[in-house]
Amino acid sequence: STEQLLDRLYEEESLESQEIIAVLKNLDQNLKKRLHHLAHLKRMERYGDRVFLRGLIEFSNICKQNCLYCGIRSGNKTVSRYRLQPEQILECCREGYELGYRTFVLQSGEDDWYTTEKLADIITHIKTLFPDTAVTLSIGERDDAAYAALLAAGADRYLLRHETASRKLYEALHPTMAFDSRRNRLTALKSLGYQVGAGFMVGLPGQTPGDLAEDLLYLKELEPDMIGIGPFLPHQATPLKDEPAGTVMNTLDMIALARLFVPNALIPATTAMGTAHPNGRELALQAGANVVMPNLSPLTVRAQYTLYNNKICLGDESAQCRFCLEQRIKAAGFHVDMGRGDSLKFLSRS
Ligand code: 5AD
Ligand code: FES
Repeated sequence: STEQLLDRLYEEESLESQEIIAVLKNLDQNLKKRLHHLAHLKRMERYGDRVFLRGLIEFSNICKQNCLYCGIRSGNKTVSRYRLQPEQILECCREGYELGYRTFVLQSGEDDWYTTEKLADIITHIKTLFPDTAVTLSIGERDDAAYAALLAAGADRYLLRHETASRKLYEALHPTMAFDSRRNRLTALKSLGYQVGAGFMVGLPGQTPGDLAEDLLYLKELEPDMIGIGPFLPHQATPLKDEPAGTVMNTLDMIALARLFVPNALIPATTAMGTAHPNGRELALQAGANVVMPNLSPLTVRAQYTLYNNKICLGDESAQCRFCLEQRIKAAGFHVDMGRGDSLKFLSRS
């Protein structure tokens, strides 16, 4: 029965493709509850009730790629583009540090104006000014030399979602990118020594239960330190504008399954979850997620970094998000941990 499959997944931390598909097809209300509860138990067993906060700095919305789902794709001529200057990025970190953040996530489109040298310089400055912080990069695909230089400059972690483990779907959604290259970049980051984050979207047009099973099996094989999962949300100035959004419920199921397949991973309750449902992030925390990434970007540029419609917190100061989240996390039954929050996998190998 599906219930037995879930119990076996809890014990053995894996299932076969056909079994995952059976689970996804048979999940009714009760089984969903059971799945989310098992994921919650696994998270409590590994990380306890701590929720780690990361300060997110969206430093450029300029992107050379053209992903069909993404609001900052190069083909979108209606978005006004911005780049934060290095001093502005450091200013966001200073503000974040004072609010207690000990991880900064530097995210952008694939923007080559930020050369390896410029980025290395920014990272060096952050690590010199704030030595007890971790720096996470989320800037897309670069070559081995760039990844190595940024690591040497002090970067600790790298987020590069695999987006979907289905080659067919990946190729349909990414006209300017290659499936094999994505996988190859993830393995390169891992062997260089970064804490690596992979992840995918749920509810992409044409995505099947078989595709979602592949996502879980790929995560199991890669064993990333971090796993970002969110619903696909349409953006009005993209080719996918009329496609239906992924659902909060299906995304919660995938978050819970990811926790059971890769128990030591850090899993964010994503902004996309908070956008899709008023309590989406809290629900994610209760289904196995254990990280939240509030926005530290300057208010003046926030609305310009829109990957999908109706993104939350566009008008909220960094301090507001910091305290709003603390309240919400407490109300959901958890505790904020302002430490660096390294993954258990990373702590056990260092
Ligand atoms: N809906 C949901 N998530 C999106 N992302 C990009 N565009 C969208 C969208 N329309 C996600 C991608 C990317 C991350 C930064 O945001 O998975 O890796
Ligand atoms: Fe930004 Fe709640 S997280 S105001």
